[in-house]
Amino acid sequence: VYATAETLGVPADRVDAAACAVELIHAYSLVHDDLPAMDDDDLRRGRLTCHRAFDEATAILAGDSLQVLAFKILASHAGAPADAATRVRLIDTLADASGTSGMAGGQALDLAAEGRSLTLAEIEQIHVLKTGALIRASVVMAAHCAPSLDAARLQSLKDFGSTVGIAFQIQDDLLDVEGDVALIGKATGSDEARAMPTYPAIAGLESARARVRELHGRAAEALETPGWGGGPLAALADWLLTRRH
Ligand code: IPE
Ligand code: MG
Ligand code: MG
Ligand code: MG
Repeated sequence: VYATAETLGVPADRVDAAACAVELIHAYSLVHDDLPAMDDDDLRRGRLTCHRAFDEATAILAGDSLQVLAFKILASHAGAPADAATRVRLIDTLADASGTSGMAGGQALDLAAEGRSLTLAEIEQIHVLKTGALIRASVVMAAHCAPSLDAARLQSLKDFGSTVGIAFQIQDDLLDVEGDVALIGKATGSDEARAMPTYPAIAGLESARARVRELHGRAAEALETPGWGGGPLAALADWLLTRRH
């Protein structure tokens, strides 16, 4: 959100509410993702997951409350744009990215894929929803806070967000295989233990790394036409797609 705001010359404090709202949805999605009914993980960011530190009911309710707080902040927090139409647009964008047509729908497909064999295209479609939708929404929500943005530049931002989203999840799946627990702060081998058909599991580590590099290049290209190459979004993509944690 902030990298897009900087790219578009939008003051950081105009996107504070959007950034908080995305972070709250992200945090809620992880609290629920770690639950026994989903990935059943014990470690997150180097600490016990919510349901392990407290209990399952607390993790379910904490997730529910984080989700509601995201929309509450967009509706009425002082950090949200004063203009009501912009706030409704932000709520609408985040709702689409979070629900059936976005993160939650992708999580359902991800769980349904457990133990099955999928094509790489099917795997990437799950990535588009479970991970890409929220990353794309981060970029689009910042764009909604800009005074005006032509359709071509908005499309470049959407292409950038979607491409980074797919690559981010392939990189996450690579780190699940070859990451360092001390660095990533969560268990490795979680996907293999659940027989998840991930990109590295199906295509192999080298092909998965090559696909991240290819998508990374495509994300950088999406920034070139509007003249944003080498700017904060390019730096963010470099960091996200070469990360070890
Ligand atoms: C989760 O994907 C995506 C969400 C929408 C939460 P993963 O299940 O691979 O994420 P980690 O590895 O637990 O962080
Ligand atoms: Mg998961
Ligand atoms: Mg998980
Ligand atoms: Mg993972």
